[in-house]
Amino acid sequence: MNNKILILNFSLREVSSSHKIAQYLQDLAGSKAKVCDFKDLNLPRWDEDYWKAGGKWEELLKGFRSLMDEADGYVYILPEYNGAASSLYSEFNLFVNKESNHKPVLLVGVSNGRGGAYPISQAKAFGNKNNKVNIIPEHLIVRNCEEMFNHTTKPEWVNDNDYIMSRTKFALDVLDIYTTASLEIRKSISFEPKFANGL
Ligand SMILES: Cc1cc2nc3c(=O)[nH]c(=O)nc-3n(C[C@H](O)[C@H](O)[C@H](O)COP(=O)(O)O)c2cc1C
Repeated sequence: MNNKILILNFSLREVSSSHKIAQYLQDLAGSKAKVCDFKDLNLPRWDEDYWKAGGKWEELLKGFRSLMDEADGYVYILPEYNGAASSLYSEFNLFVNKESNHKPVLLVGVSNGRGGAYPISQAKAFGNKNNKVNIIPEHLIVRNCEEMFNHTTKPEWVNDNDYIMSRTKFALDVLDIYTTASLEIRKSISFEPKFANGL
């Protein structure tokens, strides 16, 4: 890929299939891609000090904001927990603001069964009001995730694995095209504090 991509993993689990998928995407995307396991940022729960200039959140969010800022596009890896995205994804949305404006996002739903669509719907419906990310129409759903993207694949999973691997390559290529186009788009849209939040 030509662009700087940040791959965000929203799994709550220590041993996470989403982390494995994030690493696979990073290998495919090349040296400009970074992975961030959001849980490892160990951010406290949001509180109202967030609104205070110079308050504790400026320090707490410094590393996270520079990761978001320096990337030109994102991948969100969203495991399905009880038919929704994880609570970390909701926390994340409280912390993201103008650094992500008009940058494209590739969504990846993850399930160890046949699910994975609900976090995609959630992000498409509720994932970009104030942060103004541009969620691209191409998305991925990695079903039976424990059997996908492994070093060795059981014979019964070879077809599904081949499909999701080629679809992943296609989706990353699409994200790269959107990311390149958004560099131009972002030059033409100036930040308007009055209209910082979406309606
Ligand atoms: C609390 C919890 C709830 C889950 N609920 C669902 C679900 O509603 N639908 C589904 O397809 N999988 C569900 N799963 C299975 C996950 O999709 C599976 O564990 C997957 O590996 C999670 O990704 P992770 O390993 O990156 O955390 C659930 C798992 C957990 C831990």
